[in-house]
Amino acid sequence: MAKPGRSCPRHYRYSPAVFARPADIEARSLYVVGGLYGNPFALEAVLDLARREGATLVFNGDFNWFDADPTEFREVNDTVLRHVALRGNVETEIAGEDSGAGCGCGYPEWVGDGEVERSNEILERLRETARGFPDLRARLGGLPMHLVAEVGGLRVGIAHGDAESLAGWQFSQEALRKRPERARALLARAAIDVFACTHTCLPVMQDFATPRGTALVVNNGAAGMPNFRDMRFGFATRIASVPSTQALYGARLGAVVVEAVPVRYDHDAWLARFDRVWPAGSPASLSYRKRIASGPGYDVEQALRTSSSTGALPRAA
Ligand SMILES: [Fe+2]
Repeated sequence: MAKPGRSCPRHYRYSPAVFARPADIEARSLYVVGGLYGNPFALEAVLDLARREGATLVFNGDFNWFDADPTEFREVNDTVLRHVALRGNVETEIAGEDSGAGCGCGYPEWVGDGEVERSNEILERLRETARGFPDLRARLGGLPMHLVAEVGGLRVGIAHGDAESLAGWQFSQEALRKRPERARALLARAAIDVFACTHTCLPVMQDFATPRGTALVVNNGAAGMPNFRDMRFGFATRIASVPSTQALYGARLGAVVVEAVPVRYDHDAWLARFDRVWPAGSPASLSYRKRIASGPGYDVEQALRTSSSTGALPRAA
């Protein structure tokens, strides 16, 4: 039997063909915000980014994680649920009582057992907080798993994991490097031009030749945590017809730019808040504090994998 945190529950799955449908929403400028992880300062920052250009926000799951404090939990969810939102494995698991899936992360073999066990402990504590908010729990459990958006004539598939599972790892930077042919097949069946995802915690942007033409997978990593070595900000994926002056990197696809835009939150305030809720020795501190303080061992050059045909944009920073 699969261990909690390692498995990908059956109800997490969908066919890539679900994306081959008319768009659910249309936007001129779209921010896809994955992995906010309960960081209220990052939430403030993305709301500000979107407000400045009248952009549409889509939160594609795991907007909860470190927000085990009840007041914070209420505030993060009340705010996020005013926008378009999809559920991630965290929302799905805290909405229910099934402890068999653990955190529902579907962790692959390259993530160690200690980390998986600590994720299950974090989930348990967060679920305990969620039990105090049955109204929010019901709303989280009722969120959809996937969305199709249209931006500048391009079809954008959005989910938390990949094109066949809420917690899939096929669009992680590791799997895209090892098994690009698998990703290409999923994109072709989904009939989309851009697939925006998150869940696997590290950003990546990679293009593929599909029957529709060039398709792009863009994983924002985390909106609420640093994503690269020595960088102290999160990322959101921006898809729009006009480039952003804020983007760290991006690619052009037809009439649209797809960019990794920094989510510049108050780092010191976030670290202090994190330490208060998850003190030294707690599972979240052991698994995430180092990353929150100084970023993971991962660099921009590893994330940007677009061929010249899509045209990499110059970096803004
Ligand atoms: Fe996730």
